[in-house]
Amino acid sequence: MKNLPPSEMIESCSVAGPGFVNIVLSKKWMAKCIQKMLGDGIGTWAPSIQVKRAVVDFSSPNIAKEMHVGHLRSTIIGDTIARMLEFSNVEVLRRNHVGDWGTQFGMLIQYLFEETPNWEEAGEKAISDLQAFYRASKAKFDEDPAFKARAQQAVVHLRGGESQYQTAWAKICEISRRGFQVIYQRLGIVLEEKGESFYNPYIPRVLSMLNDQGLIEESEGARIIKIEGHSIPLIVVKSDGGYNYASTDLAAVWYRLNEEKADWIIYVTDIGQQQHFDMVFSAAKLAGWLPSQANLYPKTNHVPLGFVCGEDGKRFKTRSGDVVRLVELLDEAKSRCKAALVERGKAAGWTADEIEQTAEAVGYSAVKYADLKNNSFDQMLNDRGNTAVYLLYAHARICSIIRKSGEDIEALKQMGEIVLDHDDERVLGLHLLQFAEVVEEALANLLPSTLCEYLYNLTEYFTKFYSNCQVVGSAEQTSRLLLCEATAVVMRKCFHLLGMIPVYRI
Ligand code: ARG
Repeated sequence: MKNLPPSEMIESCSVAGPGFVNIVLSKKWMAKCIQKMLGDGIGTWAPSIQVKRAVVDFSSPNIAKEMHVGHLRSTIIGDTIARMLEFSNVEVLRRNHVGDWGTQFGMLIQYLFEETPNWEEAGEKAISDLQAFYRASKAKFDEDPAFKARAQQAVVHLRGGESQYQTAWAKICEISRRGFQVIYQRLGIVLEEKGESFYNPYIPRVLSMLNDQGLIEESEGARIIKIEGHSIPLIVVKSDGGYNYASTDLAAVWYRLNEEKADWIIYVTDIGQQQHFDMVFSAAKLAGWLPSQANLYPKTNHVPLGFVCGEDGKRFKTRSGDVVRLVELLDEAKSRCKAALVERGKAAGWTADEIEQTAEAVGYSAVKYADLKNNSFDQMLNDRGNTAVYLLYAHARICSIIRKSGEDIEALKQMGEIVLDHDDERVLGLHLLQFAEVVEEALANLLPSTLCEYLYNLTEYFTKFYSNCQVVGSAEQTSRLLLCEATAVVMRKCFHLLGMIPVYRI
């Protein structure tokens, strides 16, 4: 102990059995750090990580198909990863790698031409329900060999850049894009689209580089890359000469590393694509684009998401067997929250707008939080336990404690002092101080649920503090109000990082 230089951080330390040293942090130092954060802002608690620029590839639905709960997971989890990186002062390129290319477009365009010959004048009306349109064209493709052949021919015309085909393609993409945008807006998600088609011009060049390196082989008419540890090769040119999902992803990795100069590329998709990304990353390492050691930059990571399950433990589907439409999920969440507000008489004296906004804040946050913390679907809208509703209400209660004290919290921040004498104050203070580490850990493991757990525990520690330490009217009122404020500030930062919207009264 004698060798430990004196530090204002440490109150005492002692040997606790062989191999262990207990270090007790100074309460004074802890209080000072919290107070400093209140003065200088929560930004001063941002973790510092080595990365300058990151690409987060998330959401990435497929054109002409409806976004489903699987894409919702990727959207929410990817957004939170992006937010945590942004908070850590990393420049983030939020990428929507939409599926806007591939053979299915031949089918869609051909169907459009045949079913609605005047599609150019008919405009939107030709494809009022894109999902139904997709289903109908797929049915015809599967049943009618002659149509199938025409659809395959249409792909060739599209690839060749024929203007009529290009126009139809752009139209279909545009309608889809608008549908996606509605969802992103409701969820407060910002994304920049660079879809699969964007990488088309880069594919030949990238493949020829790989070919020159001797990485590409011929196999049964296809061009492949063999990857050690995988029983199947990565097919980069199909036997019909066309490119595929893998060729596009190779070109995208190359582009992100060389043109966009990213030092970390993160992909968020369902776990079904794990092998695909494993092989693409391995190929990039073989080509020398990425260092072979996992701890060196630039690096790539795939965040594999489990499938969303229904209450029966099977993949989440509606009664008709379709994947649940996102829009319906959000509508349901909002309307349930609204009903709960009204039923509990919480909203007496609120304007219709206020009720609406609170129902959206709580409802959408609930959907997001449940997903981020890996909760089961039926738990999502509970107001007890580890749910968004519980956390948001707790935050609103802290705000109301501060409001009801009648004190000017900004003035207290200037003049007051935090003291952490009571044990429950110290525990709460210590937890507050761990915030930056937790964000850093959540990023290192790409596990936003770490932050959910932290936020939930913070709320529990606060509740314990509040039930054992009188705030308003006590001798320690100033210090305790500041501790309430610090808790609210950290909670709000957590909400922000998790893409949730705080409410201030309930
Ligand atoms: N469109 C794909 C899907 O719906 C996800 C794309 C993920 N990103 C990527 N670069 N492959 O499953």
